[in-house]
Amino acid sequence: MCGIIGICGTDFVAERLIAGLQRLEYRGYDSAGIAVIDHKALHRVRAAGKLENLRQSYASAPIDGLTGIGHTRWATHGGAEEHNAHPHGTEAVALVHNGIIENFHELKATLGDVVWTSETDTEVVVHLLEAELKTGADPERAMIRVLPKLEGAFALLICFRDYPDTLIAARQGSPLAIGQHHGESFIGSDAVALSGLADQVCYLENGDWAVLKPDTIQIFDAANKTVTRDFVANTVQIAGLGKGNYPHAMLKEIHEQPGVIGDTLHSLIDPKTLMINWADYPQSQYLRTPLIQFTACGTAYYATLVAGYWFEQLCRIPIRHEMASEMRYRDIVCPQNSLGIFVSQSGETMDTMEAMRHWQELGGQTTAIVNVPTSSLAREAHHTIPTLAGPEIGVASTKAFTTQLTALHCLAIWMAEQMGSIPKAQAQSMVADLLDLSGKLVAALSIIEDYKIIAKEVLAPASGVFFLGRGLNYPIALEGALKLKEITYMHAEGYPAGEMKHGPIALVSPELPVIFIAPSDRWFSKTFSNIQEVAARDGNLIMLTDQAGTQAVKEHGLDHKVRCITLPDVPETLSPILYSLPVQMLAYETAVCLGRNIDQPRNLAKSVTVE
Ligand code: F6R
Repeated sequence: MCGIIGICGTDFVAERLIAGLQRLEYRGYDSAGIAVIDHKALHRVRAAGKLENLRQSYASAPIDGLTGIGHTRWATHGGAEEHNAHPHGTEAVALVHNGIIENFHELKATLGDVVWTSETDTEVVVHLLEAELKTGADPERAMIRVLPKLEGAFALLICFRDYPDTLIAARQGSPLAIGQHHGESFIGSDAVALSGLADQVCYLENGDWAVLKPDTIQIFDAANKTVTRDFVANTVQIAGLGKGNYPHAMLKEIHEQPGVIGDTLHSLIDPKTLMINWADYPQSQYLRTPLIQFTACGTAYYATLVAGYWFEQLCRIPIRHEMASEMRYRDIVCPQNSLGIFVSQSGETMDTMEAMRHWQELGGQTTAIVNVPTSSLAREAHHTIPTLAGPEIGVASTKAFTTQLTALHCLAIWMAEQMGSIPKAQAQSMVADLLDLSGKLVAALSIIEDYKIIAKEVLAPASGVFFLGRGLNYPIALEGALKLKEITYMHAEGYPAGEMKHGPIALVSPELPVIFIAPSDRWFSKTFSNIQEVAARDGNLIMLTDQAGTQAVKEHGLDHKVRCITLPDVPETLSPILYSLPVQMLAYETAVCLGRNIDQPRNLAKSVTVE
C-alpha cells in the first residue's frame, strides 16, 4: 500500500520523483504528491486522485530542487482528498509514510497547540519531529527521540528545509530499498521504484533507519548502532514495467504466462533427468513433516487450495489451509517439525509475514514461495522458492498466480518422489507434462473472440455471476469470481459445484450466468449432473471444458442451453493452471465492455502492507 520515493542528488529531482511515482502507482492511486527543497525553502505539490492530476498541478506551478520525496497513496486514515495527500509537512519538515502509526491518537494528545491540516495518522510524526527540531536537535537526534515513540508498521521518509542535502528514512515493518548511482542517493518502497535510477540496492531491516546524503548512506539499527546491509543487483528492468503493445498491463501479464511459467519451470527442473532440481533442500527435516500447513492471502491463498489437492494426493500427508489474516491471531497447534508453506507475490503482505513469524515462533519450518526474491518474506523464511513471473504491475494478480501453481506443483512432485510415495518414473512423467504445457497455454489464449463474445453477450449485461467447479478446479472457481469482482465491480461468487444444491441454486435465473469449470476429469460426471440441474432451471450456462466435455454437451442435447469454451486437453493435475487463463480473460473482457479502469480498479492496491 502506498509507494514512497526519495532522491538526494546533484541534479534536479522533481521529474524523476514523478517518474518514480508512476512506477509505484500500482501500490495506491488515491492521491499523489512531492516535496522538494529549493534555496532553503520546502515546496510541496499534491493532488487527490490519479498521478495525472499531480502532473497537471505540477505543470501549472512547477517546483524543483536537488533533494525531494514523493508519495502515491492508498488511503487508510482520512479520505482520498488533497489535504490528506502526502507529503505532509510544515515550513521546516516534509514527510511521506507507508503503513499505519497505530498510536497516533495518543501521540496527538501529547502535542498541545498544533493546527492539524489532515485526518491522517501521518501528520503526528511531522509535528513530533518539528517539536524536536525546535529544541535545537538536528535531524538525526530528532529521529532518535521520535522513532521509539511510534507504534505500528511503517516506512518513513523525511526531508528538512535546513538540511537541504539530507534525507532520513526509517523502516518498521514496511519495506524500503536504497541505492546509489553517480554520486546520488535514492530510496523507495521497492526495487521497482529504483529501476532506472540505481543498479544495486540494499534493503533496510526492521528497526533500521538511514541518513542519505548525495554521496553517502549511513544505516543504523534499532539501537542506533551503525550497520551495513548487503547490496544486491536491481534486476527490475524499466522496459518490463509498462503495458508493452497491450492496452493494459493486466492483458500483457496474462499473455506473458506461457513464458514466465516456462521460466519458473526451467529454474526448478533439470531437463536432462526430468527431475526437480533441489539438491540443497533440507530433506531430512522436511520429509519427516507430520503435516503441511499452507498460509496466504487472496489469490495466493487460492493457489494454496489447489496445492492442497496435489500434496494430499501425491505425498499422502495431512494438509491444512489457513488465511494469513486469521491464522496470525489463532492459538494454532504446530506439531513438531511441521512444514508451513507461505505463498505471496509481493513477499510483503503484512498478514502473511506475521503469520509466518507466528509459525516460526511455534517451532515450525517455513518455506516461502515468493515472486520478489529480495522481499521480507523471502529473507525471513527458512527456505525460499522464487517464482519467476517478473514484476506484476496489474493490480489483479494473474501471472503470479499461475507461476505459484507451477512452483507448488514442482514441490509436491519432488516431496512425493523423495518420500517414496510416487515412483521416480511417475515424477519424471509429471515433469514432462509440465514442460509440455506452454503450447496449450498459448492455445488457450488464442481463442480471444470466444472470451469477447461471452463477455459482451452474457457477462457484462448480467446482475452477477456464479463460478462453479469441483476438486482441483474449485479454487479456480474462487479465483474466477475474485478476478471478476476486482476489475468489473460485479457481484460474483465461487462455489464448489456439489454445494450449489444446498442453497445457492435458489439464485439461478437467466440474469445470473453460471460458469462451470469442468474439464473431463474424474469429477466430470458429477459436475455434469450439476450442469443439468442448472439447465433444467433455465440457467444461463457457460462451460469451460475440453473436447470430450464439449462432446458430452452435444450428446445430451444441451448445446442450445450451454455455451462451451473448448480448451486443449491437459493431464488432470495440470488443469487448474490451464483453466486459470480463461477465467482471467473473461474477467478482463467483461471489464473492457463495462469500461472499467482495469489496471487501477477502485479501492484496491497491489501490495497490502497494512492489517
Ligand atoms: C488478487 C490479488 C490479491 C493478492 C493478495 C496477496 O488479484 O492480487 O488478492 O493475491 O493481496 O498478495 P501477495 O501475493 O502479494 O501476498
